[in-house]
Amino acid sequence: MVTEKQAIAPGYCRLSFKAPHIAGTAYPGQFVMVYMNSGYRHLLPRPFSIFTRNRDKEEVSLLFAVKGQGTELMASAEVGSLWKISGPLGSGFPALPEGSLLVAGGIGLAPLAFLAASIEKPRTLIYGARTASQLICPPGVLDLPNLEVIEVTEDGTRGERGTAADLLLGLLPGPPALFACGPGPMLRAVKTLCLHSGTPAWFSVEEKMACGIGACLGCAVQTPKGYSRVCREGPVFSAEEVFNND
Ligand SMILES: Cc1cc2nc3c(=O)[nH]c(=O)nc-3n(C[C@H](O)[C@H](O)[C@H](O)COP(=O)(O)OP(=O)(O)OC[C@H]3O[C@@H](n4cnc5c(N)ncnc54)[C@H](O)[C@@H]3O)c2cc1C
Ligand code: FES
Repeated sequence: MVTEKQAIAPGYCRLSFKAPHIAGTAYPGQFVMVYMNSGYRHLLPRPFSIFTRNRDKEEVSLLFAVKGQGTELMASAEVGSLWKISGPLGSGFPALPEGSLLVAGGIGLAPLAFLAASIEKPRTLIYGARTASQLICPPGVLDLPNLEVIEVTEDGTRGERGTAADLLLGLLPGPPALFACGPGPMLRAVKTLCLHSGTPAWFSVEEKMACGIGACLGCAVQTPKGYSRVCREGPVFSAEEVFNND
């Protein structure tokens, strides 16, 4: 059941769901499949990272960009309406060592906000976007103990001016591990910097999905070990596993 809806900015929305099983068992980096409501039964379910989880309230929330028919429908959901969501699905991030760097590009913030909230050890989040209006984190979510947040925009309208990769140049090597999610070009640039600096890194990657449970092979990506399904072996992969064919 939808318990809360927040219109964050034009084209961005947060939906909270009462989902006791998912809220009780999910770990950061996992995702859910959202099945579209009545009238849209022909639509395949859509994958979304878990953004926040509240075990006491048995709720999870999703932060999403409105892109097409499915996300338009989700953005028009009413509080109290019933939705089928399945999960938690996929692999999560490995344990986060103290001093880790988290790097989020735009809507890629979703799995990293959950990861950041999973521990209280000191950690740093670089949160980047093209422009200030695309830094769409709802107020309060990143107000976490021992979390340093560095905002960066390409046009300099908020935080530092440049890209997340520009900022990383001054921070690597050093951190024991890096965790990232965002647009492909950003992840590729971050991967290069991590490999050159010897920083272990894990990325949450996106692929179009149909089943979400490993049955259709529609989400397979090539890795050095052969094809891996983003929905089962992923969506979290080590830097060595992904983006090897560029
Ligand atoms: C593991 C995983 C986690 C994700 N987490 C989030 C999240 O937290 N927030 C968020 O906003 N989005 C997330 N996505 C992307 C999200 O699933 C798509 O934006 C969504 O399915 C689009 O549905 P639609 O019906 O609105 O758009 P469609 O009409 O299906 O497509 C509109 C546009 O979105 C692109 N698109 C469709 N499906 C995907 C997909 N699976 N991945 C990337 N692009 C897609 C299409 O190429 C097209 O350009 C995630 C995807 C994956 C695989
Ligand atoms: S979406 Fe079907 S195997 Fe991954």
